[in-house]
Amino acid sequence: MPKSGFRQRLDRMAYSSPMLARVLGMGGRKRRRTELSQSGWDKEHIEGGWDRLADLDELAHHAVVAGYASRLARGGHFLDIGCGAGVTEQLLRPWYAGYHGVDFSDNAIEKARIGAPESATFSAGDARTFVPARQYDLIIMCEVLEYFPDIEEQMRRYAAYLAPGGAFILSMWASRRSHPSWAAVERVLKVRDTTLMWNGRGVGWAVKALTP
Ligand SMILES: C[S@@+](CC[C@H](N)C(=O)[O-])C[C@H]1O[C@@H](n2cnc3c(N)ncnc32)[C@H](O)[C@@H]1O
Repeated sequence: MPKSGFRQRLDRMAYSSPMLARVLGMGGRKRRRTELSQSGWDKEHIEGGWDRLADLDELAHHAVVAGYASRLARGGHFLDIGCGAGVTEQLLRPWYAGYHGVDFSDNAIEKARIGAPESATFSAGDARTFVPARQYDLIIMCEVLEYFPDIEEQMRRYAAYLAPGGAFILSMWASRRSHPSWAAVERVLKVRDTTLMWNGRGVGWAVKALTP
């Protein structure tokens, strides 16, 4: 449902300032704890609950992820954590020599494999215990980080699989409640750039390029 103009403005102000969000009593101290089980995610993918990620009004954050990838690691090897049904992979295609996507959901992985080039591989499994087979020039986490209960630990773990000069690209829904998740990330990684965007329905994302 579209948010009212006032609500949108309040959200944007509070998102831009964690301190203001706290003063307004708008949450943010506690991170959202909405992590689902493997079967829960698979069920949602089977029922088409995540098909909307391919909608036009979701394009903004995926396009910024692909834009950052083209600048930071063109022609490199990319690891996409929580890759879903391949929406991001399709936009990244011009920019990678090799791509690996990991997702909890078998159904999402089946969909992601359809039409993907040979240079793209996928595996189904829990990203929190996934052990990469190589180092990557880019590690992407698009709309998945907020479901991890142990963000700091995961960032440290994955940073060990970044090739020298490599970078992370992280995207999260711009909710006031994502402030603590970003704070956890930024205790481990340095922000090189942030893009904050809002679609016409008042839904926003923050996409950040970060390095160890
Ligand atoms: C909101 S969707 C985002 C999908 C994709 N990154 C995109 O932006 O189009 C979150 C995805 O993360 C996956 N996921 C959530 N927790 C996971 C985990 N612990 N390990 C692997 N995948 C996970 C879900 O199955 C789902 O496909």
